[in-house]
Amino acid sequence: MYAVVERQMIVPNLHEFTVEAPEVAESVQAGNFVIVRPDEMGERMPLSVADWDPEAGTVTSIFMQVGGSTAKLARLKPGDTIPTYVGPLGKETKIENFGTVLCVGGCYGIGSLYPIARALKAAGNTVHTLLEARSSFLLYWQDRFEKVSDSVIELTRDGTAGYKGHISRLGEILTLEKIKPDLIIVNGCTFLMMKASKVTEPMAVKTIVNMNPIMIDGTGMCGVCRLTVDGNVKFACVDGPDFDGHEIDWEEFLKRRQTYNPEEVHPLRKSGCVSHF
Ligand SMILES: Cc1cc2nc3c(=O)[nH]c(=O)nc-3n(C[C@H](O)[C@H](O)[C@H](O)COP(=O)(O)OP(=O)(O)OC[C@H]3O[C@@H](n4cnc5c(N)ncnc54)[C@H](O)[C@@H]3O)c2cc1C
Ligand code: FES
Repeated sequence: MYAVVERQMIVPNLHEFTVEAPEVAESVQAGNFVIVRPDEMGERMPLSVADWDPEAGTVTSIFMQVGGSTAKLARLKPGDTIPTYVGPLGKETKIENFGTVLCVGGCYGIGSLYPIARALKAAGNTVHTLLEARSSFLLYWQDRFEKVSDSVIELTRDGTAGYKGHISRLGEILTLEKIKPDLIIVNGCTFLMMKASKVTEPMAVKTIVNMNPIMIDGTGMCGVCRLTVDGNVKFACVDGPDFDGHEIDWEEFLKRRQTYNPEEVHPLRKSGCVSHF
């Protein structure tokens, strides 16, 4: 059993979740994920790592409450235990000195982006971070990003912080901020990663996205996390989760990710158990 060290809602619907898992904490890298089960009857659920402390033996993720399993996680308190915490899984994000890197994060991806930005900075890159949310009250960890970024830009759909609008404004924002990235890394919801990839394609700037298909085992055995990249079948859990956003068959990906919505999401929304999705 794995002890929950901390579980707290940091902005509406997004929770910081820290678990005692020393064997994961000592080998985890930016871009890895873990598979978690909230209780003995629960389903396996992938969560990206957002931070870790090898000395304390703890690993932190940010999760968004969207359905049954994340609702169970959201009820956990420090001192509770969970039966499954497997990792680190997936390939780590490639870190080297690329020059100038733009890190884009939204939703739970702000959390998983943080160790990536930190590692890129430590590798000598100029790191600009763009944090995206519906509104300012959904942004978090700006102070952490300021310590590992040359600039932190905010983009909110209602204009309550930073630029107003959506990621479709990325080209214009880069011009205004005088940023010429050699690489763009996007972590967040599928829509953000897809839109960002579509915007950066004509700019011809390589764009890495951290894919989040439905997963079961997380070790390449079940095939559920299949996606098509540059015309080839890939498994996000072992070949990714990072892929080139310009090579992904997004239409197929979106369809596969919604496979279980009738069973999983719609009954919860109807019952009022999930307030936001
Ligand atoms: C590599 C990877 C890393 C992820 N990292 C995070 C993270 O750091 N924080 C976070 O909040 N979420 C993350 N996710 C998504 C998270 O796993 C799902 O939101 C979670 O499993 C939903 O479970 P649920 O029972 O609460 O919701 P459900 O009711 O099962 O589903 C709600 C929605 O989540 C999708 N979903 C369901 N199960 C999975 C699954 N096993 N994998 C992916 N999507 C699923 C469904 O398509 C549906 O749209 C990640 C997914 C992957 C593949
Ligand atoms: S989750 Fe089973 S193959 Fe990737």
